[in-house]
Formats: sequence, structure tokens, C-alpha cells
Amino acid sequence: MPVSGGFAGVVLGVGRGFAGVVLGVGGFASAVLGVGGFASAVPGLGWLCGHRGGFVGAVTAVGRSLRSRGMVNERQAERWNGESARRWLASRERHAAVRERLLPHLYRAAAVRPGERVLDVGCGCGDTSVALARTAREVVGIDISEPLLREARRAEAGNVRFVRGDAQVDPLGAFDVVVSSFGVMFFDDPVAAFRNLRRTGGRLAFLCWQDALVNEVFALPLRALGAPPAEDPFADPVWIRQTLTSAGYHGVRVQALHEPARLGDDVADVTAYAMESTLVRDLAAGNARARSLIEAAFAERQRPDGVWIEAAAYLVTAPRQGRDAGGWSAPIRGGPRGATGRGSARSGPAGGRGR
Ligand SMILES: C[S@@+](CC[C@H](N)C(=O)[O-])C[C@H]1O[C@@H](n2cnc3c(N)ncnc32)[C@H](O)[C@@H]1O
Repeated sequence: MPVSGGFAGVVLGVGRGFAGVVLGVGGFASAVLGVGGFASAVPGLGWLCGHRGGFVGAVTAVGRSLRSRGMVNERQAERWNGESARRWLASRERHAAVRERLLPHLYRAAAVRPGERVLDVGCGCGDTSVALARTAREVVGIDISEPLLREARRAEAGNVRFVRGDAQVDPLGAFDVVVSSFGVMFFDDPVAAFRNLRRTGGRLAFLCWQDALVNEVFALPLRALGAPPAEDPFADPVWIRQTLTSAGYHGVRVQALHEPARLGDDVADVTAYAMESTLVRDLAAGNARARSLIEAAFAERQRPDGVWIEAAAYLVTAPRQGRDAGGWSAPIRGGPRGATGRGSARSGPAGGRGR
């Protein structure tokens, strides 16, 4: 197996990172717990589930052995191979519509050039991988969800392929660019995961959602029902920068994006979608007016061609990083090889609620 040479290094690396968290690096441990807590709340959400919820060739022995002992991303792996995958596939077109005006920001930031190799983390059904493969020499999409990868593989072609694996722990090899469209928010240990991504040596560009009470992809029903703030660390640019810096990235930038997004056809459609969420259903329980409050909130956004909301995301970037000497193992089958700043972009109509 090509991984044999780097195997010990990876195991030790993972072990160290994991123990560091478990043994409790004070503040970070609580941040990680925050991630876990939010992640467990959200995947029940349907729409938010999409929000929250390994290279390659096959899952490596490292990832397999850790997961089989129930240590890494076990809950997320279960969700994304079960209920979350089912819901995600059922809402694939809706999610594509919601991301339509955000993805160009990601592609611009990634600035993939011909000849470059790209890793798409949490690639899902592979749409971003396929889009990037129009320019890149090769794109590898990595995901823990077999049902979503089955869809992705329909689009597998000469220079794009998909592998099942855990981006937090599996050896990734070397890439010029690491991108992700909302696929990096699910790790048990974000620092360890981003450290693993950094080992690719590639520059980084990913999208994650802003606060769920601000980002109207989720916010309208939550606000209508008086939901408390969600503890989502990725909604905090300071936490994002600290986490990436702890993982060894430098030059991290977090840019706020606001774009109009078509959430669905009409009020009935988007209300039904929102009500798939366990959180929304829990908030609505015992409140006879809940559905009408949600409908009223969506009715304000009804336009002739659908219900439009303002999607609010962060675009996170970091320049090309040096390769770590250790902890990196050779890719499988010629596979992957390889200041803080914040700005704000607002495109589309003022306020972002039109088209
Ligand atoms: C919100 S979906 C985004 C999918 C796709 N990038 C898109 O924009 O349509 C999140 C994806 O991350 C994947 N994922 C979650 N944890 C992962 C991990 N540890 N390693 C690889 N993929 C993971 C899920 O299976 C899911 O496909």
C-alpha cells in the first residue's frame, strides 16, 4: 500500500492532535465541544442539516481504524450516510439555487489555473468539483457520504474523480488548491482537520455560513419563532482565523458575502422545507401560531418568480502554504500530490433581497 511509508507519522500526528483536544486545551476544548454541540443540533434540521450535519481511492487504514473505534466524526459519518444524505438529495436543486450566487465568489478566490490539482473537501454530489475541472488539470472530490458520492460519480470524467474518505484524518497527498463549498464545518476536531488540509501545501478557499439568525437561508423561521442564538463557531470570523492559525495557516482572510438566493417556489414550498427541520419543529411544538408566523415571514419575500432571501456566508482564504515535513503520506494511485484580514462583499441589489 502506498500509505505504508507515512503510516506511523500519520497515526502519531492524529493521535497527538486528538489527545490534545481530549486532554483539554482549555478554550479550544470548549470551542470543539461547541462545534459538536451545534453539529448535533443542526443535522436534524433538513435545511440546516445541509449546513452542518475521506484520500483516496478508498478510505485509508488510519481513518478506518479511528472511525471503527468510534473516535472521529462518527456522528457526522452516520448522518451523511443516512438521514442527512436522504434530505440533501431530496433538496439538491434547492441547495444549488441557494448557492448559485455564492459559488462565483469561491471560484474567483480559488483562482484555479490550468495545470493545477484541486481537492474539493466535502464535495457532496460533486457539482463544484465538476465546475473546477473545466479549468484544473485534475480535481479530486473527497466526502464521507457514499450516497452523495454515488451521485457525484455519475459525473466522473477524465480529470475529475471522487473518493470516499474523511478529510480530517485521511492522508490527502499534495494539491495546489483546496476548496470547499460548505463542506468543512462538520469536523470533530477542526484544528486537526485544517492541519491535515494544510499538509497538502495548497492555497485554501472555502465557504461557510454566517450566523443562522442573520443568514436568511435559515433565519426567517428561526427569528419568527424566537430561536436563541445558535452556537456555531464558523459564524465567528475570529474563531475561524484562530482555528486556521492554530492549524498552521497564515495570511487567513475572512470576507463576508451577502447574496440574494431563491429559496423555493412559494410560501407553502419553503414553509414545508423549513418544517423538515427538527429544530424548527421543536420550536413550533405547542405554539398554535407557529406555522402562520413562519408563513408570514416568508410571504414578505415572495416574488413573482419565487421566494427570495439574503444568503449570508463567509468566504475564507489562505495563500499557498509550505509542506509539512512529517505527517504526510504518499497518495494512493497517483492521487493527490500535490495577518488576518476581513472584508465585505455585497453584490446584487442593495439589501440583497431582489434578483
Ligand atoms: C453541506 S454539504 C456540502 C456539499 C457540497 N460541497 C455542496 O456544496 O453541495 C457538506 C458535505 O460535507 C461532507 N462531510 C462532512 N464531514 C466530512 C469529513 N469529515 N470529510 C469529508 N467530507 C465530509 C458531507 O458528507 C457533505 O457531503
